[in-house]
Amino acid sequence: MTVQLRVYVPPHPLIKHWLAVARDASTPSVLFRSAITELGRWLTYEAAREWLPTVETMVQSPLDSSPATLINPQVPVAVVPILRAGLGLLEGAQSLLPLASVYHLGLVRNEETLEPVCYLNKLPEKFHPETRVLITDPMLATGGSIMFAMSELVQRGVDPSLTRIVSVVAAPPALQKLSAEYPGLNIYTATIDEIVNDKGYIVPGLGDAGDRIFGT
Ligand code: PRP
Ligand code: URA
Repeated sequence: MTVQLRVYVPPHPLIKHWLAVARDASTPSVLFRSAITELGRWLTYEAAREWLPTVETMVQSPLDSSPATLINPQVPVAVVPILRAGLGLLEGAQSLLPLASVYHLGLVRNEETLEPVCYLNKLPEKFHPETRVLITDPMLATGGSIMFAMSELVQRGVDPSLTRIVSVVAAPPALQKLSAEYPGLNIYTATIDEIVNDKGYIVPGLGDAGDRIFGT
């Protein structure tokens, strides 16, 4: 059986709505930030299906005992926001994954080469092999940043098939690179835009997501 990269674009009205708000160039920073937060929440909700580990148990209702399913607190869950723009998706993700550890990874693209430069790495030396990892980065453009992040995670014992990427706009160059290297990976994104221009921006995209989130 061949394992393939799976890219989900959930057909949800809330995701479409907040994507439209984020795309609009006239959306001010305060509203852009809210739109990205909401996208983080609803895309994480979708990504959590069949990914969050559960445990079967029994609960006693006021009337009788009943079989029940709970989130398994024994299995570690980690969120890895790729700074800066990935921070915008964090609040929504954390609202659904309150027990997750958060490991920050700071990457910035060199404006000429478009290669990522790492300026902060708070990843642990080793992850437990069962760890569920959710990476947040709103823009997957040339793929340089997400490939760097994946390589750092896999070196530390993360299983790509237990990893979910939450993004807002994904473009073919990034998806092709991820597919070639990490076929078991699952990506949740609000849209796939076909074009990356010669400056490395996704078209139509959202513009510079980090600048719009932080008003810089
Ligand atoms: C943006 C974005 C991604 C990256 C995607 O970060 O947040 O991390 O570009 O581009 P790529 O797929 O071509 O690597 P940027 O370097 O602009 O930093 P910022 O988040 O601090 O604005
Ligand atoms: N990073 C962004 O913020 N926007 C893009 O379109 C591409 C990379």
